[in-house]
Amino acid sequence: METAKLTLQGKDYELPVFEGTEGEVAIDCRKLRGTTGAVAYDPGFGNTGSCSSDITFIDGEAGILRYRGYPIDQLATQLPFTKVAYMLIHGDLPDEDTYQRWRTGLTYHTLIHEDMKKFFEGYPPHAHPMAILASMVASMSTYYPESDDPQDIELNIIRLIAKIKTLAAFAYKKSIGQPFIYPQNDLSYSANFLKMMFAVPAEPYEVSPTLERALNTLLILHADHEQNCSTSTVRMVGSSGANLFASIAAGICALWGPLHGGANQAVLEMLQSIADDGCDYKKYIALAKDKDSEFRLMGFGHRVYKNRDPRAEILKSAADDVLAELGVDDPLLEVAENLEEVALNDPYFKERKLFPNVDFYSGIIYRAMGIPTDMFTVMFALGRLPGWIAQWKEMRDAPKGRIHRPRQIYTGANRRDV
Ligand code: ACO
Repeated sequence: METAKLTLQGKDYELPVFEGTEGEVAIDCRKLRGTTGAVAYDPGFGNTGSCSSDITFIDGEAGILRYRGYPIDQLATQLPFTKVAYMLIHGDLPDEDTYQRWRTGLTYHTLIHEDMKKFFEGYPPHAHPMAILASMVASMSTYYPESDDPQDIELNIIRLIAKIKTLAAFAYKKSIGQPFIYPQNDLSYSANFLKMMFAVPAEPYEVSPTLERALNTLLILHADHEQNCSTSTVRMVGSSGANLFASIAAGICALWGPLHGGANQAVLEMLQSIADDGCDYKKYIALAKDKDSEFRLMGFGHRVYKNRDPRAEILKSAADDVLAELGVDDPLLEVAENLEEVALNDPYFKERKLFPNVDFYSGIIYRAMGIPTDMFTVMFALGRLPGWIAQWKEMRDAPKGRIHRPRQIYTGANRRDV
């Protein structure tokens, strides 16, 4: 086995090196502190492999994203979201019988316990739906207690995937003061969600196939993305032995922030303020480059993708299709395209390899679908759920798993007396 040599305070150490299946090289630091007394310092974890995983492969330089080996463009254009969810969680695409059983499970667990509806009454009318979603998912653990039996865990996984869209749609209905619409079991996952969001009891509602298809694509594109802020949170919380619902609720909270899943909401708000301010793109580009300003170009840049975000490319053409098919003429799309062009031609963005990420175009599509801005991050959470579950399950099933407990370098005051 190859080793890495480390010289520290005049002493030489050898650290084991290993490779992933796609040739990624890792220096194994697990014994670093025990043998050298030093720790690895990596705030933001940009150089730290916190686990090994069989689920998602990303090559940020080449713009590659694969779930379980399958390229994202094939998955997003050829499969239903529920099949991709099965594959992420269980490792392989299901055969027809297995898939039908999985679909049946997801179909018959869509209703939430009637008592849970009462929780919605307690929230103020303008409560952010991410807050409602996180608390509702955590509350599910009060109805479906945890168990170590793999069959019970599988059932809770099915319950969570089936019910989360009901919870999300109810959160929206609550915010606009409309009655809840119950799920309809003969519809696809995406169509069922759209109906619960937009139908009212007073009128018939036909789900648009264009919207159903676009939502299916969006959910798949968001379904996993290896060790990002929310996924690592799910693993971190789950590493303490916390149950599935508690771990996923923590992931939802982590996703909420504007530097992560909250970016899609922030993108739309930014585009709107640029439009309201007379579309002075150069002013906002200058502001984004100004180190004294807090302003960043939302929807630009990525910790991993330094060339292109393959999800953004699929979404850009999906956004064009949805707007054309629905006949939506959204002025913010033009603002987005102009801003993108100015940014991509600016040396600051070129040098730092800052490109549009998945959130830059997802907001435009959600808006065309009629989904309100503060629901955008909830949409992201619906898509990311199978990935979080797959990562939670992989962490839990791994032999010799340890609670996540990073170290720190203390830089505060030395001992002093009061
Ligand atoms: N606008 C302006 N400058 C930026 C931007 C941006 N959107 N993103 C990065 N930069 C600059 C930084 O200021 C830094 O410049 P410097 O080298 O002169 O100091 C350089 O580019 C590197 O940026 P970091 O912040 O070190 O990159 P990091 O990997 O930590 O951050 C992040 C990645 C959080 C995505 C960042 O690009 C950002 O804030 N983007 C806007 C928010 C966003 O769109 N988030 C969604 C990400 S995708 C997702 O979560 C699904």
